[in-house]
Amino acid sequence: MCGIVGYIGWREAAPLLLKGLKRLEYRGYDSAGVALLNESLLVMKQKGSVSGLEVATEGLSKEMKAATIGIGHTRWATHGEPNDINAHPHQNTVGDIAVIHNGIIENYSALKQELISQGYIFSSDTDSEVLVHLIDRIWNSDSSLDLESATRNALRHVDGAYGICVISSREPDKIIVARKGSPLVIGIGTGEYFIASDAAPIVEHTNKVVYLSDGELAVVKKDGYVVKTIENVEQQKIITELDFSLEKIEKGGFEHFMLKEIFEQPAVMHDVMRGRVRLDEGRICLGGIEDYLDRLKQAKRIVICACGTSWHAALIGEYLIEEFARIPVEVDYASEFRYRNPIVGVDDVVILISQSGETADTLAALRTAKEKGALVMGICNVVGSTIARETLCGMYTHAGPEVGVASTKAFTAQVIMLYMLALALSRGRTLSQDEITLNLRELSRLPEKATRILELDSQIKDIAERFKDAKNALYLGRGFNFPVALEGALKLKEISYIHAEGYPAAEMKHGPIALIDKDMPVIFIATRDSTYSKILSNIEEVRSRKGRVIAIANEGDQEVSRLAEHVIYIPQSSGPITPLLTVIPLQLLAYHIATLRGCNVDRPRNLAKSVTVE
Ligand code: G6P
Repeated sequence: MCGIVGYIGWREAAPLLLKGLKRLEYRGYDSAGVALLNESLLVMKQKGSVSGLEVATEGLSKEMKAATIGIGHTRWATHGEPNDINAHPHQNTVGDIAVIHNGIIENYSALKQELISQGYIFSSDTDSEVLVHLIDRIWNSDSSLDLESATRNALRHVDGAYGICVISSREPDKIIVARKGSPLVIGIGTGEYFIASDAAPIVEHTNKVVYLSDGELAVVKKDGYVVKTIENVEQQKIITELDFSLEKIEKGGFEHFMLKEIFEQPAVMHDVMRGRVRLDEGRICLGGIEDYLDRLKQAKRIVICACGTSWHAALIGEYLIEEFARIPVEVDYASEFRYRNPIVGVDDVVILISQSGETADTLAALRTAKEKGALVMGICNVVGSTIARETLCGMYTHAGPEVGVASTKAFTAQVIMLYMLALALSRGRTLSQDEITLNLRELSRLPEKATRILELDSQIKDIAERFKDAKNALYLGRGFNFPVALEGALKLKEISYIHAEGYPAAEMKHGPIALIDKDMPVIFIATRDSTYSKILSNIEEVRSRKGRVIAIANEGDQEVSRLAEHVIYIPQSSGPITPLLTVIPLQLLAYHIATLRGCNVDRPRNLAKSVTVE
């Protein structure tokens, strides 16, 4: 998804901007560009990687190399194909204003027609270009205006979402930034400021940041900044301290971010539960929702909205909350929820799950639920993200920055959060103290069990070798492990481009069984729980059709080894906890198959880490 960086201060801007753009590469992009300001304005942009752009900037003039003000952008195409012209920054016709934009201008077509009829010439197919011409038109129409007021007036004409940076050689001492629906952060240095769409490019320079809120515009100069509302009312902003280091964002010795993040899971499990799972007190302590716990317990219904992997975590949450707390739960794709006039009201709790906290559909679902009076609660990973800020209460997953586009550690962290929530909702109601304590024990043993599963990495790589050329794959599980089957299939298709489907195992006979032949790998989650014997029958059915069975089973299981071609043995645990363990071998299997196929696992084609457009 698009990324923004900006710099104003005393250092050479170009290398800082390029480094910042590299830090944003994990979000996914197809083209990159920078604008530099040193009395005059220069824009360089092209399709392809930031490294390609870096090579192009080697030929910068002395004057532009010395520029200490600039903005940069990585684009992920929404309007207009990925090419040099559609890349940002966009400029006005005379070339003295440059704009970068994240988000979508929904009324761009009408604005574009209007500007064309007034003689403006567009060079790109993007919605973003209207912004720069609009600012130009407004500024030129009234000599009393400056860049700030022209930008503010222009934004009043715009419907849709934006995070923007604007610079101009007519006022070469400032960057104007504004946000509505697309995140922007200002990093505060000494005599210098950094602007970015998330903290990753900023953290190596400063840990002091100001998050812009929707409807705010800031004028950033090298000696200070002012934040105002779009109505021009000055705002006092709180300076937040970032709590993650750059080291955490980098690969830490692993070949890929995804592998590093899979291996971080035992540590993440500790971090998620730290201070929350209180085994000695026999309870769960969730600070972020403590004041609302009674209202949550009284909810008539809980609705969970999310997208992608977070949606799979939500499905496990449904099983957990219904099993433990006996509160009815409904799980919805955020994109469906927002458009189907959902029946929710004051007696309902709507939980939004999002790693990034910025997913456009999940944010829209949150706003819909809020409008309808529901109690809205967030489960997010990124601290200070929009969803985290707009929900009434919530909990952070504390999984640390997740760089790999395919989510892994954030998923396990989300499921643990839901597990803890389910227990907190059950205490004093549906579960006895003994049952709570038993579950707390299971939770606290998780990191050690996850570590043992990670030791199976080379066995899983061997299995991957044998299946790397598969054209399709089927993932089957039941109960708590049905959503894990969906997640296993999603991981494989996201990063290896092999077509994969997840199904509840019993549904196999209603369709997928027709696909089974000698070339079809079928991955069963066959851990010992209440549906174990049924799963064994499903494995028999696949075998008799010559399907190739890979099974995840519990250590010591002889039955499964008799039936399956390959068995990955994981430690025994209680049914509700198993998804947190069974998902790990599936992440590793997808990772190894994808790398053996030569795929770019950290940045799979067409996917984005943070989907801030609908
Ligand atoms: C994108 C990512 C997925 C992620 C989904 C939801 O599709 O590629 O990995 O699960 O968005 O993102 P969120 O940040 O809301 O969890």
